[in-house]
Amino acid sequence: MKRAVFLLAAASAIRGSLAQVRVPPNFEVGVKWQIVIQSTIDVNPPLEPADAVVWDLDLYHVARTPEVVSHLRENNPNTILICYFNAGLTQKSDCDYETRWEKSGLLGNVYDPEEPQFDDERWVNIKNQTARDWIKERITLARDVGCDGVDPDNIDGYHNDEDGNNGTGWDLSRDDYVSFVRELAEHAHGLTTKRNYTLLIGQKNAPDLVEDVGDLLDFAVLEDCKSLNGGGGDDDDDNDDNNDDAPFCGEFQHYIERGRPVFSIEYPSTLGDDETGECNAGGASKAQYEASCDASTARGNSDFSTVLKIQGGVGELNGCTQYCDGLQPGTGIVVTATDSELDGNECPPEATGSS
Ligand SMILES: *[C@@H]1O[C@H](CO)[C@@H](O)[C@H](O)[C@H]1NC(C)=O
Ligand SMILES: *[C@@H]1O[C@H](CO)[C@@H](O)[C@H](O)[C@H]1NC(C)=O
Ligand SMILES: *[C@@H]1O[C@H](CO)[C@@H](O)[C@H](O)[C@H]1NC(C)=O
Repeated sequence: MKRAVFLLAAASAIRGSLAQVRVPPNFEVGVKWQIVIQSTIDVNPPLEPADAVVWDLDLYHVARTPEVVSHLRENNPNTILICYFNAGLTQKSDCDYETRWEKSGLLGNVYDPEEPQFDDERWVNIKNQTARDWIKERITLARDVGCDGVDPDNIDGYHNDEDGNNGTGWDLSRDDYVSFVRELAEHAHGLTTKRNYTLLIGQKNAPDLVEDVGDLLDFAVLEDCKSLNGGGGDDDDDNDDNNDDAPFCGEFQHYIERGRPVFSIEYPSTLGDDETGECNAGGASKAQYEASCDASTARGNSDFSTVLKIQGGVGELNGCTQYCDGLQPGTGIVVTATDSELDGNECPPEATGSS
């Protein structure tokens, strides 16, 4: 289907469609970003890298450690903070787990029986309105703690439920997720951030949803869209109907054409140690660096904001990062001190949703 194409020329443009979305002027295609969700970033040493404009951090790390937000803003007042959270599953470390989900009857099967490292994550019954309302409250929390946008993960559980699989335990369909994502987007776009913009919301992977939600969402976050590791970002099942193992960067040119950034993560196996999370000082191998960074048209990832991260499960997503940046292989490495004592901070009451 051919879609109308328009470019956002003006900074701070106001987008039409369902809601008027006010976007920070520096939220542009190709903007430099960093993602650290493995643990809370250290608020003392300089940020790595100091010139990343967009930061994608775990919502509950931010909620537990508000100093993170001031640390980012002191470095650059125009930092755009995206807060990652798990929208499709719930896990024990989530601040609202005990107060809401644990005994709700709204949690289904584990993420993937074949990936026991994720056994404390269970699929949410996103057909249930109470579940949707609780997820929307996570979005409100993101606004309240100073995030500029949200990165809701795992919006494609329907792949687990195809061909009679019922992998989530809720028999969820693609339509269920489309309506879920639309509801989340409407909620986010109804919120005004502390910096007086609209709370932005992104699409995480799920290339087959672009045609239904790609006009509504403000950016995308992709994992392994080149399929260099032989699996799509879905990382879910063996269904071939959805072509999960095929590269899917090109589908997200839909965002680029509309002036909306696409943040992509590639996971070269030579960048670091997936068990210790340690970074190779020399970065990924030359071949993997080049394959990950190649943005020739055929790859479909032109104008994406790309980071290289350690491969491991869905990736460690700690501070170890290599940028493409037109640098030679072996450069562009940054290592963020991620082992912060602040991880022990308790959940603030507003994050538990108990009140
Ligand atoms: C949704 O889940 C809540 C909490 O378990 C339950 O009380 C409610 O009846 C469910 N709604 C529907 C329509 O099943
Ligand atoms: C899916 O699995 C759940 C949990 O095992 C079960 O209660 C439900 O009946 C199943 N639904 C279908 C359509 O198989
Ligand atoms: C917030 O932005 C809107 C739209 O640009 C503007 O009308 C309003 O005055 C701003 N409010 C504050 C408190 O700056």
